Amino acid sequence: MQFSLTEEHLMIQQAAREFAQNELLPGVIERDNHQEFPDELVRRMGELGFLGMMVDPEYGGSGMDTISYVLAMEELSKIDASASVIVSVNNSLVCWGIETFGTEAQKQKYLPALATGQMVGAFCLSEPEAGSDATSQRTTAIDMGDHYLINGTKNWITNGKRAGVYLVMAQTDREKGHRGINCLIVERGTPGFEIGPKEDKLGIRGSDTTTLQFNDVRVPKENRIGEDGFGFKFAMKTLDGGRIGIAAQALGIASGAMELAVKYAKQRKAFGTEIANHQAVAFKLANMATEIEAARLLCLKAAYEKDQHKNYGLSAAMAKLYASKVANDVTREAIQVHGGNGYVKEYHVERLFRDAKITEIYEGTSEIQRIVIARAILEQAKVAVG
Ligand code: CAA
Repeated sequence: MQFSLTEEHLMIQQAAREFAQNELLPGVIERDNHQEFPDELVRRMGELGFLGMMVDPEYGGSGMDTISYVLAMEELSKIDASASVIVSVNNSLVCWGIETFGTEAQKQKYLPALATGQMVGAFCLSEPEAGSDATSQRTTAIDMGDHYLINGTKNWITNGKRAGVYLVMAQTDREKGHRGINCLIVERGTPGFEIGPKEDKLGIRGSDTTTLQFNDVRVPKENRIGEDGFGFKFAMKTLDGGRIGIAAQALGIASGAMELAVKYAKQRKAFGTEIANHQAVAFKLANMATEIEAARLLCLKAAYEKDQHKNYGLSAAMAKLYASKVANDVTREAIQVHGGNGYVKEYHVERLFRDAKITEIYEGTSEIQRIVIARAILEQAKVAVG
C-alpha cells in the first residue's frame, strides 16, 4: 500500500490551487451575493482542462485519473464551491456518462465541446415527485419509431440555465418500472424544451439550478444512451462516480474552512495571547484536521478503486456520507473560531458554511448513502467469530 501522490498528481494539485487563488478568489463574494454564474471562469476552466479531466485526449479531454480529479476538486472547492459543482457535474455525470456508455457518434459530437468548456452539460434525474425515490419517474419518453416524444418536468437541475446538452431520464414503458426508463440527450433549443427561472438558494449561489419543462420535445432515437431501458442503471452507475466528485467538493469546503480558521487563530489575540494558544481553540483545530484527513482518505480510496476498475459504489457512498458531514461540522466550528467575524461575508467561512449544506443533499442525500452502504454491507456480511 502506498500513500504518496505521483509527480503528476502534485502538479495538478498545484495548478488547481493556483487557479483557485488567482482566478476564483477575486469576486467570489460578489458572485455569491448576486447569484452570478461564472461564465468567464467556466471558459478558463475549460481551457485549463478542468472540465474534461478524465476524458480521453482523443475527445479533447485531459486523460487524467480519478485521483487527479479529487485533488483538483478539493482545491477548487476550498475557494468556490459554485464553480466546483459545475466542474463536478460536467466531469462525472455528463462527460463520464457519455464516454462510458455513449455511441462513438455521441462521443464525437458532444465530448470535445464539453471537455473544453465550449459548453457545459446537465444531468436531469430529479423531478418534483421523484427525488430520493428516483425510480418513480413521471417524465415520459414515448417511443414514436424513429424518435421519442418527451413530456414532463425536471427540477433541481445544476447548470440548468447554461447547459448546451441535457441527459434526461424518462419513462418509456411504465409496465417495466425502472427497466423501462431511458436516458436521452436533449440539446438546448430543441422546440418544446423550456428552462425555468434560477432558484434562489442558501448556498452554491453562483451555480445555476433550475426547473426544466418538456412539452412534446422530439428527440431522435440516436440520442438514446445505451440499450432500450438502460436509463435507470445509467443514472445509478453515473451517480456512483458523481458521489466521489461531491465528496471531494465537501472535503475542499472543509479544508478551506480549516485553513481560514488556522490562519485566524494564529493572528487573533485574546486574553493576552493568540487564540490558537487557548486549548478551547486548539482542540477544535485538532478535531478538524483529523476529520478532514479521514474524509480525504475515503475520497482517495474511492477514486483509487474507480481507477482500478473495482466496484466503487460502496466507497463512493461512504466518502460522500462522511465528507459531507465533516464539511458541515468543520465550517460550523470554523465560524466559532472566528467569533463575530465568522458571521459576516468578508471572512469567507460564512459562505463555506452555507455551501456545505448541499453536499448532504444532492447526488443522493446522506440517508440515501446510508441505504446504499447498509445494503452493501448486509450483502457482503462475513462473520469472523461465532
Ligand atoms: N449501479 C448499477 N445499478 C444499480 C445501482 C448502481 N449503483 N444501484 C441500483 N441499481 C439497479 C438495481 O440493481 C436495480 O436493477 P435490477 O432490478 O435490474 O436488478 C435497479 O437499479 C433499482 O434498484 P433498487 O431496487 O435498489 O431501487 P430502489 O428504489 O430500492 O433504490 C436508490 C434505489 C439507491 C435509493 C436510488 O433511487 C437512489 O440512488 N436515489 C437517489 C437519487 C439521487 O442520487 N439523486 C440525485 C439527483 S442528481 C443530482 O443531484 C445532480 C446534480 O445536479 C448535482
